[in-house]
Amino acid sequence: MDRFEIHGGNRLEGKLTIKGSKNATLPLMAAALLTDEPVILRHVPDLADIGNMRRLLDNLSCLLDWQPLEDLNSAGGTLRIHADPAGNSHAHYDIVRTMRASICVLGPMLARRGKARVSLPGGCAIGERPVDLHLHGLKALGAEITRDGGDIIASIPDVAGRPGRLKGARIFLGGPFGSTVLGTANVMSAACLAEGTTIIECAACEPEIVDLAKMLTAMGARITGAGSPRLTIEGVRQLSGCDHTILPDRIEAGTYMCAAAITGGDLTLDNCPVDALMAHMDRMQLMGVTFQFDGKLDPLRTSCRVTVGTRILPTELTTQPHPGYPTDLQAQLMAVLSLADGTSIVTERIFPERFLHVAELSRMGAQIYRTGPTANITGVKKLTGTQVMASDLRASACLVLAGLAAEGMTTVNRVYHLDRGYERMEERLRTLGARIQRVSETVPEPLPG
Ligand code: EPZ
Repeated sequence: MDRFEIHGGNRLEGKLTIKGSKNATLPLMAAALLTDEPVILRHVPDLADIGNMRRLLDNLSCLLDWQPLEDLNSAGGTLRIHADPAGNSHAHYDIVRTMRASICVLGPMLARRGKARVSLPGGCAIGERPVDLHLHGLKALGAEITRDGGDIIASIPDVAGRPGRLKGARIFLGGPFGSTVLGTANVMSAACLAEGTTIIECAACEPEIVDLAKMLTAMGARITGAGSPRLTIEGVRQLSGCDHTILPDRIEAGTYMCAAAITGGDLTLDNCPVDALMAHMDRMQLMGVTFQFDGKLDPLRTSCRVTVGTRILPTELTTQPHPGYPTDLQAQLMAVLSLADGTSIVTERIFPERFLHVAELSRMGAQIYRTGPTANITGVKKLTGTQVMASDLRASACLVLAGLAAEGMTTVNRVYHLDRGYERMEERLRTLGARIQRVSETVPEPLPG
């Protein structure tokens, strides 16, 4: 297993291009199952999760042509997906277990093929990841859902001996933690081919859902309300292919904003979705970070300069569904807050157990006291490099950020977690002046410079 060795203390300076969004790409790839025609996706990031989804779609009888771009500063590669609706409709456990987001093939596959068998995704380090809302929504559209062992088996009942079709419905899709992102993606995608009108109340408002609705509309779907809690979908008989450029990754952008802040650096992020990061940027401005960008350009693909004053100020935040503060940036901001000039309060309302990074940050000297879903962070003068263990994707990013600022060397073990959501992170950080190297168990690379 690979690890990162980071010598902290360097200011990050320079330019970085933000890649296409991982969390948009996954449901967009699944949406290719809704049509018999080819779908082209551009600005596709080269990530482990995307590779797993390619493997899954290949297994579900899709022809894929993947053209990655070597250029570190490209926004991503091009992926062509051509699904065969008469193919295999069983998403096996050995692929689904590697990525719980595989669940997002359920809705599109059921709607187009009339059946789908998907292994139940397991939980993960950030908490139990139920899919009850996904199934609630699909059942409301007329699907029959049964369980066989660890698999979900979904089908559309025949009508008078002929293959049936999903039926539009009025669906409340909220759960105890509010809306569900992939649940909304599943039900919205399936409803595109249903007979009649579907209303989804308490739909996720995330920018990734807006991007999915944009692609589905380009395929011929009739969707209104994307980005609001109420979606209305007029079902159509069939959907066509399309050519879609993916939304930039707001979580990657927010992570690199934290990298600039924690190193006292000066970064310019190109292809930056500032319009999808208002809650994060609001908190960072309170912490003393300055953002400069041209408001006249596309606010989802602009160039944003990130600088910070002489000290980081404390703040408080509570994670919520979009447009609230994103849970996927909580760990990264906590790394910055651990060096703030005062005490901050972070409350996690989406995944209350999403604090595996706290113990590792504490090993580096951070002073964090957690009670239930709330962590109090008392800023310290410095963090000290040491061995730390990555546990999940965003906790890994938090530890890399802390290592960039820590005194001495930090070794972040198990960076395969990081490779799921950040493309060639160590190479891109090196171009900005970081002293970081990837060490594979086999042959360690020479220290840079
Ligand atoms: C998406 O996961 C993201 N993943 C997650 O990002 C992100 O943290 C999450 O949304 C919340 O923003 C992708 O888009 C691939 P949810 P998703 O359904 O859709 C509960 C990352 O780091 N819930 O919105 O699976 C659930 O337990 C990843 O990039 C139910 O109760 O999350 C959670 O508490 C991590 N029943 C809350 O809702 C359900 O059927 C939000 O989950 C579904 C969810």
